[in-house]
Order: sequence, then structure tokens, then C-alpha cells
Amino acid sequence: MTTGVTVSVPAKVNVQLAVGPLRPDGYHDLANVFLAVGLYDRVTAAPADTLRITCTGPGAGQVPLDRSNLAARAAVLLAARHGRPPAVHLHIDKDIPVAGGMAGGSADAAGALLACDALWGTGATRQELLGLGAELGSDVPFSLLGGAALGRGRGERLTPLDVGGRFHWVFALADGGLSTPEVYRECDRLRGGPPAASRVPEPEPEPALLAALAGGDAPALAAVLAGGTNDLQPAALSLRPALRHTLDTGLAAGALAGIVSGSGPTCAFLAKDAEAAHALAEALEASGTCRAARVTTGPAPGARIV
Ligand code: C5P
Repeated sequence: MTTGVTVSVPAKVNVQLAVGPLRPDGYHDLANVFLAVGLYDRVTAAPADTLRITCTGPGAGQVPLDRSNLAARAAVLLAARHGRPPAVHLHIDKDIPVAGGMAGGSADAAGALLACDALWGTGATRQELLGLGAELGSDVPFSLLGGAALGRGRGERLTPLDVGGRFHWVFALADGGLSTPEVYRECDRLRGGPPAASRVPEPEPEPALLAALAGGDAPALAAVLAGGTNDLQPAALSLRPALRHTLDTGLAAGALAGIVSGSGPTCAFLAKDAEAAHALAEALEASGTCRAARVTTGPAPGARIV
């Protein structure tokens, strides 16, 4: 029996998520500064007669095991482009919170693309995989790339960014997820509804934020984050008001800054160093304002075969 191919794929936090106008296609133009962080899903592709998905890890029960799963759609898309049946067993070992605003579903799609390409010997170029990723979801190309990048368009048009150091993060995981489309809809609603939401200015990356990343300067990054860089945060807080307590608890426990990660409900806290991050995680867990707290660093590498 041929053994499978396992790919490790990181989670992401958006250090900036500037949401522009609602477009006629239902998406929003973004200035999206992605940072990959060291929480990983592992996707294994193994030979099988038909497409089959299994999943283990926290929250696995909420992951669909049919063809609506983004990893399954990735396998089907790659197979179709190469004129072969999507016969594969995909096993997803989850560590990225499910529906947590950390691109877990996108990570699994990126992992499936890379693992199936290697298993089937389709020999897709990196450019082709990035293109297929963009068809699957706005965040999938970044999950392939990793590191840090500016995403324009709906987030899929990427420019890699230099990062001059390692940032220490604590992620406060919530019970239950938030639906990304619902959070975008709430953002539009808070902006006064669709006609008004279509007239907001084009989003631009924050120069001070890019400089803080390039300099590896955590206090400078925190200062920009504290000014509010995630336009989805008011929407996530409106849908899940309890997240305000989580953010306040992290800030009171010494975080340099705290933001909602992407569309939430995970909250991301920047810490001064590894020691401060561990103390912060302990305080968050003891407070009962989150399900669990995870310490990690970013940037982290993109999808890779292990
Ligand atoms: O691209 P993806 O399938 O991940 O997007 C999920 C949903 O999030 C979209 O259907 C849309 O409602 C919303 N979205 C958006 N603007 C973006 C990205 C996502 O409105 N740039």
C-alpha cells in the first residue's frame, strides 16, 4: 500500500483587516495584512477508491465530512483540472479553531491541494495552486504562502511582506464559532445597510503597521493595533458582546494589544515576549472569559509537506 502525504498548514491572524465597499458580487474589497501563526492543521491524502473525508481534533464534530468541506472541494477542483477522478482519503487533524476567524477551513483546502498534488503526481506549479486556491476561498492562497502578506481584492491578490522579527501571540479560543458571511453582513448593517456600505472608501494598508512588521517592533505594532485595524471587530462584538470581556481581560493582564482575529470569535493578544505570553494565557484561562488560551508566535511557514 502507498502511504499518504501529510501537509502541515498554519492559522492566520489579520493584523489589519480594512473592509472597503460591498461589491456587486457580494464580496468586499480589502486591505488585508495577513500574518501566519504557529497553530497548524495537518491534512493527509492517502489512496482510496472514492473521495472520503475524516477529521479528528478539537471541534472536529462541527466539520462537514461531505463534499461541502472546503478540503474536499479542493481535491475535486484539482482532480477536474487534471482530468482524473478525485479518489482520495483526506484526513484532517485539526488544531486551528473551527469557525474561529483563523482561516482553519482555508488551511485545510490549501493542505488538500498540496497533498493531493503530491499524492497524484499532478505536478501543479505554485502559481496554479495559488490560482486554484483563490477559486476556493479568499484566504486559501495565503494559507499556501504563509509568512506575512498584504491581500488586496477580496484578499486573494497577495504581495509578500518582510517581517523583521518574531511576534509573541496568545489566542483566546471561544466556545462556538461565528459565520464569516454573517459577520460581513453585520459590518454592512452597522455601516447603514447595503447602499451606504457600497460607498465606503477603498481600503488602504496602514504604513505604520507595515513599518512595525518590517522592524519586528512589537510595541509599535501594538500601538497601531490599539487604534483599531480590524473593521470586522465591531461586527463580531455586536454579534458576540461577551468578547468585549475577553479583550478587556487580556489587556488588564498585560497584553500589549488585543484584537478580534478576522471575523472572530477568537481574540488575539500581542505579548512582549514568550514569558509574558505564558502569563497572559494563564490569566485568560483563569478568568473564564475563554474556552482555552494558546501561546504561539508568528510569522509561521505556509503549507508544507512534512
Ligand atoms: O471567500 P470566502 O468563501 O472565504 O468568503 C466567505 C464569505 O465571506 C463570502 O461569501 C462573503 O460573504 C464574505 N467575504 C466578503 N468579502 C471578502 C471575503 C469574504 O464579503 N473579501
